[in-house]
Amino acid sequence: MGTGFSGEVAEYYAKYRRGYPSELFDALQAEFAWTKEDAVLDLGCGTGQLAVPTAARVRAVVGIDPEPDMLRFAGEAAARAGAGNTVWVLGSDADVPEIGAQIGAGALASVLVGQALHWMQHELLFPRLLPLLRPGGGVAVVADSSPLWLQNSDWSNALRDCLEAHFGTRPGPIGGSSPQDRSRYARALAAAGYVDVHEITVRRTDELTVDQLIGGVFSTFSAQSLPPEPERGELAQRIRWSLPSGKPLIEDAEITAVLAHAPAVLPHPR
Ligand SMILES: C[S@@+](CC[C@H](N)C(=O)[O-])C[C@H]1O[C@@H](n2cnc3c(N)ncnc32)[C@H](O)[C@@H]1O
Repeated sequence: MGTGFSGEVAEYYAKYRRGYPSELFDALQAEFAWTKEDAVLDLGCGTGQLAVPTAARVRAVVGIDPEPDMLRFAGEAAARAGAGNTVWVLGSDADVPEIGAQIGAGALASVLVGQALHWMQHELLFPRLLPLLRPGGGVAVVADSSPLWLQNSDWSNALRDCLEAHFGTRPGPIGGSSPQDRSRYARALAAAGYVDVHEITVRRTDELTVDQLIGGVFSTFSAQSLPPEPERGELAQRIRWSLPSGKPLIEDAEITAVLAHAPAVLPHPR
């Protein structure tokens, strides 16, 4: 069975998904005291939105994802950015015990999971990651918490109405990004023995073109739910017509991260 991120979905993702702001990477670096000696793992790395900018701040980044098409785009993004210190591994959260055995205890400064934890078994994953983290290291669960149709603007309201009219249901938050999801993840991290579990928020403000907006919407579909042509073209046209004319499409998005540190003394395995 496919992961839902193959083919055209990976292309939309690579081309149109907005990257994370540099303030996020500044905050992660400060939080986990990243240095050029450190290695970081990006689980569910997709097209490298977290892994590639992180690579400029540490010694090496390992990006893991079960979708070969996503990894191909991640490799291309790394090459464009000159990030030769990245390694791309085909795998999933289920492979963490095996990958961890190869990496070794205490080898990682951080494990990043961007907009992907809802595909994983986080109750199993968090305890498995703990022994892999070096002192002062930790986990960051990053989410794009304001998708294009849930922002506070006329164009975002129009987009939401347009998507509701097309699909017959009001679009909500992207999986794993709601406040309830974040609380659930924070509780699971604390239960697994992590300390100093807290949340940070950074903003991404940018002007979008109409094509970026439409491509951004399509990048949120799975391979199974991406409308086929000609429906996709019709939806794109409907979105164009629904937007307030002559006004810039200013995006004001909230990026959240649940952060958690490995304790100085690891809890005994249960
Ligand atoms: C929405 S994308 C996020 C990509 C990137 N981390 C980001 O922040 O933009 C979700 C990614 O999770 C990957 N994924 C799905 N199931 C997974 C699993 N069980 N373990 C690891 N990654 C998974 C998908 O292939 C996809 O690339």
